[in-house]
Amino acid sequence: MSGVKGSTYIVCLSILFSLCLTFSIVYANPEQNVDNTLLFGPGDRKQGYDSEDYRTNSVSLDRRIGKEADLLAIANSKHLGLPALEVPADNALSAAKIELGRMLFFDRRLSSNDTFSCAICHIPEQGFTNNEISTAVGVEGRSVKRNSPSLYNVAFYEKLFQDGREDTLEQQAWSPLLARNEMDNPSFGHVIRKIKGIEEYKGRFEQAFDGETVTIATVSKALASYQRTLISANSPFDYWYYGKQENALNTEEKAGFNLFVGKAQCVQCHTIGSEDAFFTDNKTHNTGHGYAVSMGDKELTTRVQLAPGVFVDVPREIIAEVDLKKKENDVGLYQVTQNPFDRWKYRTATLRNISLTAPYMHDGAFGTLREVIEFYNQGGVENELLSPLIKPLGLSDLEIDQLVAFLRSLTGDNVDTLVADAFAAPIGDLRSSDPNWAHDSEYTP
Ligand code: HEC
Ligand code: HEC
Repeated sequence: MSGVKGSTYIVCLSILFSLCLTFSIVYANPEQNVDNTLLFGPGDRKQGYDSEDYRTNSVSLDRRIGKEADLLAIANSKHLGLPALEVPADNALSAAKIELGRMLFFDRRLSSNDTFSCAICHIPEQGFTNNEISTAVGVEGRSVKRNSPSLYNVAFYEKLFQDGREDTLEQQAWSPLLARNEMDNPSFGHVIRKIKGIEEYKGRFEQAFDGETVTIATVSKALASYQRTLISANSPFDYWYYGKQENALNTEEKAGFNLFVGKAQCVQCHTIGSEDAFFTDNKTHNTGHGYAVSMGDKELTTRVQLAPGVFVDVPREIIAEVDLKKKENDVGLYQVTQNPFDRWKYRTATLRNISLTAPYMHDGAFGTLREVIEFYNQGGVENELLSPLIKPLGLSDLEIDQLVAFLRSLTGDNVDTLVADAFAAPIGDLRSSDPNWAHDSEYTP
């Protein structure tokens, strides 16, 4: 009898206990709708991140549906609107190099603290740029003065970086790997040692590069090979202009095209050829935007980003008062040539896939295409070195809409394929066998 009594007593106690527990959870957590499991998901989950006027395009790692694409075939095929891809004689494309480059591009272990891959700033589902911040942020929140450019069609630029200071993708690759405010690796040797110690790379370099191991050259050649495959044309504009399909563009987009090559004179710098169009003259120009930002127009307020999609316009005087560490001044090409006439010159950006790659300009100051066109419409910003090609345009609201519609017609037909392929890439999760993680590692920095 006493046994039964005892167990009833225990059952009652445990019911009471669980009631108390439930009560205390509810009490401690007034927002009962919060799903606590979310707190323990991958850091890139964006639930609860959206607001009324902001929707993120980012897809969390556990929701991505990857599908590998034949990137070599994409690189070798003809894309309406773009010339055939040219590659350096000493770095012919191959499937093995592309695959290796893709592994490196998405591998977070390639940064000093194993958190930052190239894709953290060049996010596939955000146009291979970052739609959510105007200027890039690197390891440990360190700020970068410029906007991350999209990598779509990057193979076709004659000069790389927004001031055109670099010539080839092979040479470019080491800049972010070593920059303190990007991936923060202390030296070439450090990265090479690290890659050599990672299990997944064993034998891969040798296989892709005729027996050659991990070196400065092979790392850059692999990264360059992957990036060269991010080709995207065959846009509605291309089908209309080069493919002669009359209905590929609607009336509004065609009116926008007429403005682009006519009244708005965009084509002077964003060039269109008879066989193909990369929408850039590959030159640098002073549109006045760099001047306005670096010299600080008294009329201007500074747009401060509090969170994705949340901005406030703060008068410059207030910024100056609270700005203890002045933002690094950006003078464009001048910083490369030291020629005073090159101040505030930036490379003309391609306009292909432009509707996917906001925010715009070298510092990501404009959030929409409309804002960019309004900037050109007012004649850029007056300064003593303003390009003579930039003048007030007198475009009406309707004409600005038409230009925006035209720019939206420049999105390639395979972007989803390239994004799905990127989602299929491994992201370099830390393993116990990784060189600077394993406690019994033989790795000595
Ligand atoms: C912290 C963010 C960040 C990371 C990480 C990063 N990039 Fe970038 N990337 C940028 C920014 C910002 C620029 C523009 C810099 C400039 O113009 O001075 C840029 C420019 C480039 C360019 C030149 C594009 C053009 O239009 O000229 C290429 C190519 C590139 N990055 C590839 C890579 C590769 C490959 C990696 C990894 C090894 C990488 N990036 C890592 C932010 C980043
Ligand atoms: C004098 C040459 C010139 C003319 C004319 C010109 N642009 Fe540009 N465009 C540039 C340069 C240079 C940049 C890069 C500026 C920067 O990064 O600060 C640029 C950037 C842009 C961007 C942002 C690209 C990005 O990825 O951030 C857009 C959009 C654009 N231009 C559209 C137009 C349109 C539309 C017209 C016509 C109304 C036009 N441009 C006229 C030279 C020109």
